[in-house]
Amino acid sequence: MGYADQLFDLTDRVVLITGGSRGLGREMAFAVAHCGADVVIASRNFENCEAVAKEIAAETGRSALPYGVHVGRWDQLDGLVEATYERFGKVDTLINNAGMSPLYDKLSNVTEKLFDAVVNLNLKGPFRLSALVGERMVAAGGGSIINVSSTGSLRPNGGIIPYAAAKAGLNAMTEGLAQAFGPTVRVNTLMAGPYLTDVSKAWDLSGNDNFSHLHLKRAGDPHEIVGAALFLASDASSFTTGSILRTDGGIP
Ligand SMILES: NC(=O)c1ccc[n+]([C@@H]2O[C@H](COP(=O)([O-])OP(=O)(O)OC[C@H]3O[C@@H](n4cnc5c(N)ncnc54)[C@H](OP(=O)(O)O)[C@@H]3O)[C@@H](O)[C@H]2O)c1
Repeated sequence: MGYADQLFDLTDRVVLITGGSRGLGREMAFAVAHCGADVVIASRNFENCEAVAKEIAAETGRSALPYGVHVGRWDQLDGLVEATYERFGKVDTLINNAGMSPLYDKLSNVTEKLFDAVVNLNLKGPFRLSALVGERMVAAGGGSIINVSSTGSLRPNGGIIPYAAAKAGLNAMTEGLAQAFGPTVRVNTLMAGPYLTDVSKAWDLSGNDNFSHLHLKRAGDPHEIVGAALFLASDASSFTTGSILRTDGGIP
């Protein structure tokens, strides 16, 4: 095994990833499986999870468990955790990746239902899953939790206020969980900037200078999340906890 392979080795680790069926989650799921991990692919649409799980198993030879779950509903999260431990007996890395930021035309049209849905998925679900899995990780002697946040939490604009606030809460939660689950379990924020996933289909990209404010002057390809995710998932980050790792093209 080469030096880099060893550094990022995840052989026989188990990685549970929410929102693993599409976008950044799908990229991270393939990446950890390629590094040797078995994976749990969890999102609302079971058929999509199943299709991705089959692809991962065929391409990497690792086991992949598909699971249909709404991450914003606490009563469904126990089932996800139980199914994962029943199948694999452990979780080494939890990636709280599922998230969404619905559009609205003006602030007074943001309903309580919409606000709650954004907070439920981006903040409350990750809290509950971290609580359920993190305590088991501590009991097992170690693990890594990765919370996928957004640069919107650092540079909010008027179009994403509930989402930005929820993700800012996620950043704060990361630090608290890192203290709560230390010294054996590490908890970090993986902070994404603009990536060309399904999310970007709602963006107006008709102009030529859409990302000119970023130092890299472009949006990210979904695959470009992988390096940072592997760093935080593996022992390469063994002295990193409570941190925010930005992978965002450089926000001013
Ligand atoms: N792409 C960006 O530009 C960007 C920027 C900053 C931060 N982020 C963050 O990165 C993460 C991934 O974003 P993405 O761009 O990859 O999004 P995406 O392409 O829209 O994929 C979202 C994933 O989450 C799942 N999901 C959505 N709602 C769910 C729910 N209620 N319960 C369970 N699963 C759910 C989706 O599957 P189902 O539809 O089957 O549920 C899908 O697998 C999110 O936390 C997002 O906030 C993205």
